[in-house]
Amino acid sequence: MRILPLLAVCAGLAVSSVQAGPRPMPAESKDAFIARLMAQMTLDEKIGQLRLISIGPDMTHEQINKEIAAGRIGGTFNSVTRGENRPMQDAAVKHSRLGIPMFFAYDVVHGHRTVFPISLAQASSWDMQAIALAARTSAIEASADSLDMTFAPMVDISRDPRWGRTSEGFGEDPYLVSEIAKVTVRALQGSSPAAPDSLMASVKHFALYGAVEGGRDYNIVDMSPMRMYQDYLPPYRAAIDAGAGGVMVALNTVNGIPASANTWLMQDLLRKDWGFKGVAVSDHGAIEELTRHGVAKDGREAARLAIKAGIDMSMADTLYLKELPGLVKSGDVPMGDIDNAVREVLGAKYDMGLFDDPYRRIGAAKDDPPDVNAESRLHRAAARDVARRSQVLLENRDGTLPLKKGGTIALVGPLADSRVDMMGSWSAAGVPEQSVTLLEGLRDALGDRGKVVYARGANVTDDQAIVDYLNFLNWDKPEVEQDPRPAGDMIAEAVEAARRADVVVAAVGESRGMSHESSSRTSLFIPGSQRELLKALKTTGKPLVIVLMNGRPLDLNWERANADALLETWYAGTEAGHAIADVLFGDYNPSGKLPISFPRSVGQIPTYYNHLRLGRPFTPGKPGNYTSQYFEEKTDPLYPFGYGLSYTSFSVSGITLSAPSMPRGGRIQASVTVKNTGPRDGETVVQLYIRDVAASVVRPVKELKGFRKVALKAGESRVIRFDVDEAMLKFFNAKLEYAAEPGDFDVQIGLDSEAVKSARFELL
Ligand code: BGC
Repeated sequence: MRILPLLAVCAGLAVSSVQAGPRPMPAESKDAFIARLMAQMTLDEKIGQLRLISIGPDMTHEQINKEIAAGRIGGTFNSVTRGENRPMQDAAVKHSRLGIPMFFAYDVVHGHRTVFPISLAQASSWDMQAIALAARTSAIEASADSLDMTFAPMVDISRDPRWGRTSEGFGEDPYLVSEIAKVTVRALQGSSPAAPDSLMASVKHFALYGAVEGGRDYNIVDMSPMRMYQDYLPPYRAAIDAGAGGVMVALNTVNGIPASANTWLMQDLLRKDWGFKGVAVSDHGAIEELTRHGVAKDGREAARLAIKAGIDMSMADTLYLKELPGLVKSGDVPMGDIDNAVREVLGAKYDMGLFDDPYRRIGAAKDDPPDVNAESRLHRAAARDVARRSQVLLENRDGTLPLKKGGTIALVGPLADSRVDMMGSWSAAGVPEQSVTLLEGLRDALGDRGKVVYARGANVTDDQAIVDYLNFLNWDKPEVEQDPRPAGDMIAEAVEAARRADVVVAAVGESRGMSHESSSRTSLFIPGSQRELLKALKTTGKPLVIVLMNGRPLDLNWERANADALLETWYAGTEAGHAIADVLFGDYNPSGKLPISFPRSVGQIPTYYNHLRLGRPFTPGKPGNYTSQYFEEKTDPLYPFGYGLSYTSFSVSGITLSAPSMPRGGRIQASVTVKNTGPRDGETVVQLYIRDVAASVVRPVKELKGFRKVALKAGESRVIRFDVDEAMLKFFNAKLEYAAEPGDFDVQIGLDSEAVKSARFELL
């Protein structure tokens, strides 16, 4: 902390020679400081603090600065350089009456200038150090760009891959997503959200956004309280318990009431039960949408409902600004509601260190970097490492992979050389020109030891309506570029390349916009243009390696049956091409595991491993037996949760329990011996699941409760011990009390959610 001149200390709210704007006095508590500041504020100044604007075409910089100086804006998002943000901070601290600083937010979701793999990919690493590295690096880059807050982590549980935002989250499992939520919040916020190289985390989208009906974005959410508490709420809670300073409120309804007007959700659950003390921001335009939801007849009522529910800041609309003054005057909104919201906004600014120094992340103009896009070798190396760890090897017949460095590789597919798609959606301030495509990655890895022949082979889709749709998403410029050649000519060129090669590598999947906000699908196939390409390549008889680039589980039945190797790379970020090449050539032995089940078909959705037990569960081998199944296809997923191969193989021994029973409040140990039985060093993820044998409510078939990423040399074995304690056996009962019930439990340990060993113990 800086030593303040005596004059400023005494003046308190006065402008000092060193720093304009209010600041805490020595030994003054946060609450006392904010109360003192609020006592100086007019109603209009208070309401101004509740407005969060998007920097964009709607207002000129001059207009924005005027509004800020008039005390009518509390924070912004979508401006990402010190040069952009400094004049706004000047307007706030030097030209507004009280000099209250602004904060600057942005969607730093999976990287900032250096783009890391999308969140779903990071979750596939099951590597908490790698995930922390991605978040910490993002915070360092974004704070150096003058940003104070990020709208992340996005921890919406997703069990429906039709939903385009599946790519933005960490998958289907409450435990895994909660662990990642904690790690991410801690890494973003660092030692404290006040640190100059930290960002405040605003966890989103509170709540249940991932459960939109039919996977259609912005659709309603209707869910039983037990499922909500058990499966969907834990990750938000984990982020908050880890100290997230902010919460972004979801766009959807929660059991008939939009989250943005939901007093139960925002007050009773979030603030009273969970003790959240930070700032709650609406999602984009969500307060205005209350009229379209039909819970408010006009903007005035929408503003009243939102402030009453506890939405502290309104994002990207002017309803609070327009309506709250009148609502307070008429007595329809108590002044206390406004004060509560203002207290949270100022509290967040305090926590971000902005009252100590509003320029702590903006710095002085003389220190501005000459090139904001300058690349950091260290950060790129981190992105490459995280990207290698995030890939999941789904198939590898006859040791097709790793490829030899030599001979001729035919690289085909519309995603093989597409920089923009490597970035995934919400790639923040990343610059596509800086990303490495697979074509470049293969060439860099081979040097002069082999040859890559490239042919595009197909467009991502031939459906112009889809291309138009994707190009109208919120990108700056159209990004799906169609090759105008006839599809047949492109395929012929690719087949010709394949015939001349030793192996075919096909980079196929979805363009990044297909797995994005507002990009819900009814089919999970790789688009037809690419499927035709794959079929034609198959006829050449050359080994076919399919490299998938996509942001959701896909229907891969054909690919599974026809590919010699299948590698899920998601959208791997700035260093995508290098990282994928590392895996294809075996310079990195893949260790990723799926954080979400891959269904066999759209009709099978929802397909998630931790479903509740049934009275008539499907019993394999007994056709037509009135058990729960679809008669047209198998009941299990195509690839289960937790699944992923390696270039080596692992075995897991039976489970040894340290005791046959566990006293209340006690713990036992479950151990297995994991052995690397193959020819290479490698890593795998040992997963621990619990099954409650009988309880007062129906419990899931199994639930992940622990995991360990383990590196083993070829031939090496190691005993892996898990502590199992009572907390891991707890669940929400019919009264929504969180407790463990005595009785038998099965501990299951294995390398995916299906291939497990099991042992039973009793909770006394
Ligand atoms: C998204 C949020 C995002 C916000 C600001 C909204 O459309 O739903 O996730 O943080 O925009 O960019």
